[in-house]
Amino acid sequence: SLGPDVVDIRAFGKTGMFTFDPGFLATASCESKITFIDGDLGHLYYRGYPIEQLAEKSDYLEVCYLLLNGELPTAAQRKDFERGVMRHNMLHDQLMSLFKGFRRDAHPMAVMVGVVGALSAFYHDSLDISNPEHRRISAHRLVAKLPTIAAQAYRYNKGLPFSYPKNGLTYAENFLHMMFSTPCEEYKVNPVLARALDRIFTLHADHEQNASTSTVRLAGSSGANPFACIAAGIACLWGPSHGGANEAVLKMLDEIGSVDNVADFMQGVKDKRYKLMGFGHRVYKNMDPRAAIMKQTCDEVLNELGLHNDPKFKLSMELEKIALSDPYFIERKLYPNVDFYSGIVLSAIGIPVSMFTPIFALARTVGWIAHWNEMIGDPGMKIGRPRQLYTGAARRDVVEVAKR
Ligand code: ACO
Repeated sequence: SLGPDVVDIRAFGKTGMFTFDPGFLATASCESKITFIDGDLGHLYYRGYPIEQLAEKSDYLEVCYLLLNGELPTAAQRKDFERGVMRHNMLHDQLMSLFKGFRRDAHPMAVMVGVVGALSAFYHDSLDISNPEHRRISAHRLVAKLPTIAAQAYRYNKGLPFSYPKNGLTYAENFLHMMFSTPCEEYKVNPVLARALDRIFTLHADHEQNASTSTVRLAGSSGANPFACIAAGIACLWGPSHGGANEAVLKMLDEIGSVDNVADFMQGVKDKRYKLMGFGHRVYKNMDPRAAIMKQTCDEVLNELGLHNDPKFKLSMELEKIALSDPYFIERKLYPNVDFYSGIVLSAIGIPVSMFTPIFALARTVGWIAHWNEMIGDPGMKIGRPRQLYTGAARRDVVEVAKR
């Protein structure tokens, strides 16, 4: 019907063979040696090590070394790595001025997207991504500076003076110190809370080709600077279906308000008026193994702080109990995910809700950079370029504006 000399451009997308897989439900975008998830059994491995063993016997900095280098460090390698990372944890004074360009009430994730992207303007060696040594230093800078950037985003928002990292503290302790110490009072770190935070970092360190990691890989596949790629990952993580879920869990608990409203709320979930945030996962169709570990950590933290009877935490436990026995959730294999419990733990530690996703971002940075490095080091790397099924207008001719 378009005539013999007219090509239907909708046919362009139908030539050759490619799969149409919106949401990438069944498409592997790369090969990777970093993380393996068995979603049916609910297992997660970093470089072959079960997440349960890493959470119990290791800590976040060791996990960073493992993800970046493929092996757990010896004691000497660990010391060296820690020194190598920690020497980069300060922020350039000019970078501090960048924070001041943001509105005080800006979401810390917005600030982090900007400040992490701006690191590319400070470290020009990162532009030479073909040099493995430059890539290594970029990785160390990112792991070291993300907690400082996240803490300063919070302090700027609160109108507090910027604080500096302190030698002698662990990675998690340092973050708590930078968040909460004031010029008048040094924050006294509770080891149970610092260990819980370190575990949150460990459990969030990598999760194969999730939306934000795929974003980092896609951005990096064009040869872009690593800091710019990580800024893209932070932007993607921000959404409530991904890293924003832990924040959304706490907002949901506030909206439900009391145990008396749970039945109504659950009916609303089944009527598809709302989602039960912190439940469900694209890959896990069994209990998320990170959630099982986090649940135990949650108990430890609530016990330590004597918060088991706090109305908000009681409400969350009630939701969990009902959801785990409700046919709607059982049929759809909807289990609590790691964010359900991590939101509760962070809230108990005293971290404000707006900092939940920044904490996820700082923990996931090592996974993003490990994937970016794996991709750049692959001699067969290609720019990521998905295709589409075109569903728009067929070919047509332009009519001058006066005749339209
Ligand atoms: N609450 C209620 N129903 C849900 C939920 C939920 N949290 N998640 C999925 N469902 C339902 C869907 O409505 C759908 O029902 P239907 O079959 O009757 O249509 C069914 O379960 C399948 O859901 P999908 O949307 O197809 O699952 P998908 O894999 O696309 O989504 C996702 C996964 C985005 C994580 C989803 O479960 C969700 O939005 N959960 C809440 C947000 C959340 O906690 N995100 C954190 C993910 S983990 C992370 O990023 C660390």
